[in-house]
Amino acid sequence: MVNLKQEIEKLKRERNALVLAHNYQLDEVQEVADYIGDSFYLSKIAANLDCETIVFSGVRFMAETAKILSPDKTVLLPESDAGCPLADTITGGDVRALKRQHPGAPVVCYVNSSAEVKAETDICCTSSNAVKVVASLPEKKVIFVPDGHLGDYVAKQLPEKELVLWHGACVTHAKVRPGDVAQIRADYPHAKILVHPECAPDVVAMADFTGSTAEIIRYAEQSQEKSLIIGTEVGVLCNLRASRPDKHFFLLHPGLVCPNMKKTRLQSVHAALLHNQHQIEVDEALAGPARRALIRMLEVV
Ligand code: 13P
Repeated sequence: MVNLKQEIEKLKRERNALVLAHNYQLDEVQEVADYIGDSFYLSKIAANLDCETIVFSGVRFMAETAKILSPDKTVLLPESDAGCPLADTITGGDVRALKRQHPGAPVVCYVNSSAEVKAETDICCTSSNAVKVVASLPEKKVIFVPDGHLGDYVAKQLPEKELVLWHGACVTHAKVRPGDVAQIRADYPHAKILVHPECAPDVVAMADFTGSTAEIIRYAEQSQEKSLIIGTEVGVLCNLRASRPDKHFFLLHPGLVCPNMKKTRLQSVHAALLHNQHQIEVDEALAGPARRALIRMLEVV
């Protein structure tokens, strides 16, 4: 039987390729990754890699971001239909309409968006730097797209700003309701509840800590607490159970499983490297302005 992990390592060397994997990827995929992290970390890495090919184990907008930041490299998305329903809630035309409605207001764009949308915006952000990015802008009024939950979280951290929000949301994080938080708090009264800012505002208000996937992992690994409740995709819980077997981790909601992130298997990474599939291309007419918005974000923090 073919040992897929060994085959992947061999193909990586032959193709001068590196594998990037988001924290939500399956363990088997993370095990062959050269870099694992949250969206911000992976964007920074993608901009500065020394290789010919990047295999992006994640969803389409992440691979597109890598291609925009590294246009001379081949960027492969192992599962071509691994998308993001949140990114699909908005088009470039929607952003142009918002700009017409709010002239002079800069547009901050969560990286969970298409290249077409990024191209219409002034600066990108991820969940780990959204507050810093919005705070860095001199204008009081700021258009924030497409995640309305993350936008609400930012608005609450920066009361001096006036945010115009889009109504997009992550369908996976939006499953968590305040009743789930109340129930799990009653079941585990001593456990800290950590949530991603893509959760609904009434859920975030009940949590003990809010942060990106990497920030949740850092908090859970470094804090003194022995029991923690994880309010983001189950991949983070798997990482934590592996890295801190001495602690107890519970998932805030059984539905915290992103079907798109879970599409990529070891076989998908192997096939991507073997057949050089599925190559991401971004028209330079969109990639140019999208790159400016991404680089501006990388310069803020
Ligand atoms: P991070 O910025 O925490 O990696 O989150 C990305 C994402 O898509 C969360 O659902």
